[in-house]
Amino acid sequence: MTQALRLGIAGLGTVGVGVVKIVRRHADLLQARTGRAVEITAVSARDASKDRGVNLSDYAWETDPVALAKRDDIDVFVELMGGENGPAKASVEAALASGKDVVTANKALLAIHGQALAEQAEAAGRVIRFEAAVAGGIPVIKSLTEGLAGNDITRVMGVMNGTCNYILTRMQSQELGYNALFEECAQLGYLEADPNLDVGGIDAAHKLALLSSIAFGTRPNFDGIEIEGIQQISLDDIHQAADMGYRIKLLGVAQRTARGLEQRMQPCLVPSDSALGQLEGGTNMVVIEGDAVEQIVLRGPGAGEGPTASAVMGDVCDLARGLQIPTFGRPAASLQDAPAAQTGLPAPYYLRLGLLDKPGALAKVAAILGDAGVSIDRMRQYAHSESTAPVLIVTHKTTRATLDHALDGLRDTDVVAGEPVALRIEQV
Ligand code: NAP
Ligand code: HSE
Repeated sequence: MTQALRLGIAGLGTVGVGVVKIVRRHADLLQARTGRAVEITAVSARDASKDRGVNLSDYAWETDPVALAKRDDIDVFVELMGGENGPAKASVEAALASGKDVVTANKALLAIHGQALAEQAEAAGRVIRFEAAVAGGIPVIKSLTEGLAGNDITRVMGVMNGTCNYILTRMQSQELGYNALFEECAQLGYLEADPNLDVGGIDAAHKLALLSSIAFGTRPNFDGIEIEGIQQISLDDIHQAADMGYRIKLLGVAQRTARGLEQRMQPCLVPSDSALGQLEGGTNMVVIEGDAVEQIVLRGPGAGEGPTASAVMGDVCDLARGLQIPTFGRPAASLQDAPAAQTGLPAPYYLRLGLLDKPGALAKVAAILGDAGVSIDRMRQYAHSESTAPVLIVTHKTTRATLDHALDGLRDTDVVAGEPVALRIEQV
C-alpha cells in the first residue's frame, strides 16, 4: 500500500486551522482522491497554549518552525505563518535543503524571493506550490500552469485584494467615506497586520508579480510594478465615476509589450456593467487572455479560512498524486529577466480637480491639457462649495507620460487647489 503523505504545518492561524480542519474532516475523501492517506505529523505556532478550536493532540508540537521543516517524519512542509523574511523564509529554505516539498500561502515571500527559492527547489529535486497565495480559493495558479499551458498568454488582470474591493464597493453602496470603511475593516479583522499592504496595493501587487511570472515566463519582478493604493479615492470619485457609467476598482494588469513587461496595480475605472465592474465585497476576480482560449474569467472568495485552506489542500493533493510542476510553470533557470516598462498603452483617463473660483480658470485648465497634447472627451463642473468647484474630465486616449506632463502643468497653475486625481479607464 502507498505510504501516507505526512504534513508538517507551520502557522496555526486562520489558514493553518482551516487546513487542519479539512485534513481531519475529509480523511477518507482525500485518500480516495489521491490514492494515499494525507496525515499531519507535526505543527508549529508561537503560542502552544492557545485554544485554536481544533484538536491538535495527535500531532507533535515544534516551537521552532525551522526544526519542524527539518523533521524526518514529514514529506511536505506547509508554511502558513506569513512574512517575506524571518521564520517563513528560513523554514522554507530549511525544508527544501532537507528534501521536503513546500506548500505555502505566502505571496510576499514568493514575490520577493521566489526566483531564488524556485532555483533551490529545483536543484534539490523538490517543488514549491502556492495556489493559496493568489486570489484565495480561486484555482488561478493551476489554471495558468496547467489548463492554459497551450496558450500564449497576452494579458492577465484582476481584482486580487478583497479588503480593497470591500472598501470600494461599500463606499458606493453605503455612502460611507474611506476613513469610516478603513475603521470598519479594522473592526472586522479584514486588514493585514500592516494595513498598508492592503490599502497601499502592495498585497495585490505581490500576487500580480506571481501571476506575471507564470503567464510570461519571467522572473517575479515585484519592484517593476507601478503601485498605487486606494487611500486617495473619495466618495466624490465613486459617485462621479458612477454617474459616467463606471466603477472604481483596485485593478492589477500585466501584459508583455515590445518595450518590456508592463505591470500595474492601481485604482482604475471599469465599465459598471462589466464582470469586473459588478464584483462586490471581498470577492476576487482574475481575467486571463490567451491566443487560443481568448478570455476566461475566474471569480470567487479571495480570502478566509475555508477558501484559502481549500487552495492549500489542492496543492497537497497534487503532491500526494506525485504531480511535479516547476514553481512558476517552467524551469527556474529558463525564466527571463523582463525589463519593466512604464505603462505605454494609451487609455482614456478620469481627472478630478478642485477649481478655484477665478475668471478664466476653466479655460486655463483646458489650455494646459491641450498644450500637453491631452484631448478632452467630456467635462463637467459641479457647484462651488466655498472657493472651489470639483471639475471632472474624461480624456480621449493618451499615454501616462503625456498625462503626467499635463498634471505637472495643473499643479503649477494658480487655478487648481490641491492634488489632481488621475485614474486610468481600463478597457475590460
Ligand atoms: P494568521 O492568522 O496571522 O496566523 C499566522 C500563524 O503563524 C499563527 O498561528 C502564528 O502563531 C504563526 N506564527 C507567526 N510567527 C511564527 C513563528 N515565528 N513561529 C511559529 N509560528 C509563527 O495568518 P493567516 O491569515 O493564517 O495567514 C497565513 C498566510 O496565509 C500568510 O502568508 C497570508 O498572507 C496567507 N494568506 C492568508 C489569507 C487569509 O484569508 N487569511 C488568504 C490568502 C493568503 P500564533 O497563533 O501562536 O500567534
Ligand atoms: N488581505 C488579503 C485580501 C487577504 O484582503 O485580499 C488575502 O490574500
